[in-house]
Amino acid sequence: MNHSESLQTVPVKGHVDKGHVLVTGGGSGIGAATAKVFSDAGYRVTIVGRTESTLRAQDLPYQVCDVTDKGAVTAAFASAVKLRGPVTVVIANAGAAESVPFAKLTPEHVQGLLQVNVVGVINTWQAALSDMQTSGHGRLIAIASTAGLRGYPYVSAYSAAKHAVVGLTKSVALELAKTGVTTNAICPGFVNTPMVQSAIDNIVATTGRSAAEAADALIAGNPQKRLIEPVEVAESALWLASDAAASVNGHCLALSGGEV
Ligand SMILES: NC(=O)c1ccc[n+]([C@@H]2O[C@H](COP(=O)([O-])OP(=O)(O)OC[C@H]3O[C@@H](n4cnc5c(N)ncnc54)[C@H](OP(=O)(O)O)[C@@H]3O)[C@@H](O)[C@H]2O)c1
Repeated sequence: MNHSESLQTVPVKGHVDKGHVLVTGGGSGIGAATAKVFSDAGYRVTIVGRTESTLRAQDLPYQVCDVTDKGAVTAAFASAVKLRGPVTVVIANAGAAESVPFAKLTPEHVQGLLQVNVVGVINTWQAALSDMQTSGHGRLIAIASTAGLRGYPYVSAYSAAKHAVVGLTKSVALELAKTGVTTNAICPGFVNTPMVQSAIDNIVATTGRSAAEAADALIAGNPQKRLIEPVEVAESALWLASDAAASVNGHCLALSGGEV
């Protein structure tokens, strides 16, 4: 068995049970912050990722799973549902980015980014859909990016993948509009996570700039001149999951200090 069996089927005492949220990429960064915010708000939580050690460190129930593997995603959902009930909110957050000049892009590189950033979202949302349609209520949420709303140099394949997530979100939202399921994306600018730290490391390695200069280069495009904190993305997802956001559908919410 590859999952934490802390049988979280019964709501924590003192909490109002809000439902069951499954967060992919929940072992780090935005996903870990989102899982904690939902857990604190009274949701039953399952986190998903490929690395058991980082999942276990979050102290929440988890399933080890690669979101690009449809069969593995289906199996992970089945185990999570058996333990904690139908998934009412799914947050397709797992993703990867890599800087490559356009002229050096290879089909393998492009396929890899499309697999995790686009097919991973589709696999995750599809696995949640049947239970949501049966109950007439559900929330499909993707963590896209401002790179899904505008371009950036050296990340053309990542940006193409995130634009695909935005198109997917708008289309699925219309298709499911009468089912009680809403479909939305959150599009953050640069967020203070391990992904951004590796972008900073990459700039330092390739340009010889200091880490502070590299960080400044990343925040230069944000009018507030700061990195966004993971909890800001998490709280936006919590709102999208709430009854207050019932009519928000097909929306791609930029969290970018006014950049887009
Ligand atoms: N940080 C930013 O500036 C920023 C800005 C806009 C959007 N985003 C988006 O936000 C999301 C989260 O990124 P983050 O910044 O929090 O980065 P992160 O800390 O690197 O988190 C990415 C997570 O995705 C998981 N993951 C990657 N590939 C996976 C796969 N094939 N199957 C299952 N899990 C996989 C990783 O865990 P394993 O490696 O263990 O599987 C990791 O937990 C991504 O979709 C990213 O594109 C980030």
